[in-house]
Amino acid sequence: MSGGRHKIPVKSPEELRRMRAACRLAATVMDAVAAAVRPGITTRALDELAERMIAEGGGRPAFKGYRGYPCSTCISVNEELIHGIPGPRVIVPGDIVSVDLGVELNGMLGDVARTIGVQPVRGDHARMLATVEEAFAAACRVVRAGARVGDISHAVQSLCEARGYGVVRDYVGHGIGRQLHEPPQIPNFGTAGSGPALPAGATLAIEPMITLGGHAVKVLADQWTVVTQDGAACAHYENTVLVTETGCEILTVAAKQPE
Ligand code: MF3
Ligand code: CO
Repeated sequence: MSGGRHKIPVKSPEELRRMRAACRLAATVMDAVAAAVRPGITTRALDELAERMIAEGGGRPAFKGYRGYPCSTCISVNEELIHGIPGPRVIVPGDIVSVDLGVELNGMLGDVARTIGVQPVRGDHARMLATVEEAFAAACRVVRAGARVGDISHAVQSLCEARGYGVVRDYVGHGIGRQLHEPPQIPNFGTAGSGPALPAGATLAIEPMITLGGHAVKVLADQWTVVTQDGAACAHYENTVLVTETGCEILTVAAKQPE
């Protein structure tokens, strides 16, 4: 049936076990990379740390080679929103650094992103970083079997626009699991009660993207880096989650360290 292109995939219990492991590794790597973000480090060094840890965990960097993407992470600084290519850039005090990474482990994938402030963080930047995380949490609160994609979109848009942030239109969250991008697309703007209904067992990458200015973005000449058109700073926060009968379980959570 040709309708399969838009059908939201549901993961089997066995697929979910592997998905949890992939997401746990992604989260563990993210925690380490986030902790390494400090003045003087290059974005390439952060990428190399991620690549090494993904390999040590038995995984494969899901972004590397995806549509020709050259690295294991996307690292996007200040007015860069997403898809920044790691390289010789040196992190300096006051930067806000988005790290986005994907892990494939035993055939299943996890996707996670954080935006990390490097001290001294500007007040308006700190408020934006808190808001993008709150927007994710608000989205997670509306997720359950039977909820609509538009419920997520509306939760993110209403919270962020009420506080005056720009909400990016051109890039969206997505289903994830057997592939990096699966149905449905999950816009960060839209109408509650609209769009496809979420089945229990669906796995989603929910990823609000907001700015201190307008919502317009553009792609740089490197064909990857997405920046705000007005040069305003911006933030991105993402977790891979599981839709359950009663709610939303965040999968990109690191295992608890043994005491
Ligand atoms: N995390 C991105 C997403 O959710 C994927 C980055 S694109 C890649 O779509 F090419 F870098 F993989
Ligand atoms: Co994603």
